[in-house]
Amino acid sequence: MFNTKIAGLGYYLPETVVSNDELTQYMDTTDEWIQERTGIKERRYAIKHEETTTTMGAIAAQRAIDDAGIDKSEVDFIIFATLSPDYFFPGCGVLVQRELGITDQEVGALDIRNQCSGFLYGLSVADQFVKTGMYKNVLLVGSEMHSMGLDFHTRGRNVTVIFGDGAGAAILQPTEDESKGILTTHLHANGTNAEELAMITPGSHGGHHLGKEKFGFPSESDPGGIYITQKMIDDHLIYPNMNGPLVFKTAVKKFPEVITEALKKVGKNPGDIDMLIPHQANLRIAQFVQRILGLKDEQVYNNIQKYGNTTAASVPIALTEARDEGKISEGDLVCLAAFGSGFTWGSALIRW
Ligand code: COA
Repeated sequence: MFNTKIAGLGYYLPETVVSNDELTQYMDTTDEWIQERTGIKERRYAIKHEETTTTMGAIAAQRAIDDAGIDKSEVDFIIFATLSPDYFFPGCGVLVQRELGITDQEVGALDIRNQCSGFLYGLSVADQFVKTGMYKNVLLVGSEMHSMGLDFHTRGRNVTVIFGDGAGAAILQPTEDESKGILTTHLHANGTNAEELAMITPGSHGGHHLGKEKFGFPSESDPGGIYITQKMIDDHLIYPNMNGPLVFKTAVKKFPEVITEALKKVGKNPGDIDMLIPHQANLRIAQFVQRILGLKDEQVYNNIQKYGNTTAASVPIALTEARDEGKISEGDLVCLAAFGSGFTWGSALIRW
């Protein structure tokens, strides 16, 4: 068995910066409200109809490949995490393979649907493949183009102000140094509140879980069965929805739990963490988690102020930035943790 190390990292953020003030053109909100509740000052939006989740992911991937010092032809497995894919199907895994121009190798491409925990789930899967010796260069990508699917009206403001676009990627390789690399990963889920942070339409549910009438099923005009009804469009049910207070309450419980679980597994305490990279859900959540674990400011990295919540991309973007800023050094104990829709959550401890 090998250990899995992060051999390369990269990220891509679209150029267009969207301030809180700009959002007030579309919805009843204020810079003060957004900053006070979420810590977010601005976010990036990709260029619609030019950039996509895949194209952003491919740029981040190429940067991670270059950072690892390998050729893209050496990638032997692809894992892609997103909740905003280019297509309903196929997933972005095959699309990023094509975008990178590495279809000749016909390496496997796996799509991860774990929203904000997507990168942690992907990392854990990659770790299993790498440490058993099955793959030598796994490309893991988290990418999101939220701006394409948000509700830019006051009714959608609690969700829309939070999310931003971006992509992050990592190359995972085996190492024979047992003291280095991924020490442990922990994944959890509880589907009880699946619809409380979700985009459920279009989908195949046909109203099953929440009542057929609400969505306009059965549809007399199309008895063959459809993913989307006119009523969904008319009633603005085609956007993400979020029970913010429930998400907040659950996140501040699950983040510390899953971080503590990982620390215990390797016999460490919160004080041993050199850098915690939490999923950038909300600055208030990260601050709450920091307080519960008794961590100092220099032990926690946050960049949500600049980018908003980029879901599957947030952990690799923050990890790359922290490393590039010299905040992570060789030998450091790095903790990654995430919580999100599902609800799903997870953690990883890495000896850098
Ligand atoms: N601007 C101004 N007012 C807003 C607003 C916005 N962008 N979004 C919501 N509001 C209003 C609500 O309409 C509500 O008004 P009302 O009292 O007149 O009905 C009021 O603010 C309070 O709404 P509530 O949802 O209870 O606010 P909150 O204090 O819980 O803050 C969140 C909302 C979304 C910031 C907060 O719940 C949160 O951060 N939750 C976690 C979200 C998260 O991290 N999601 C990602 C998970 S991976």
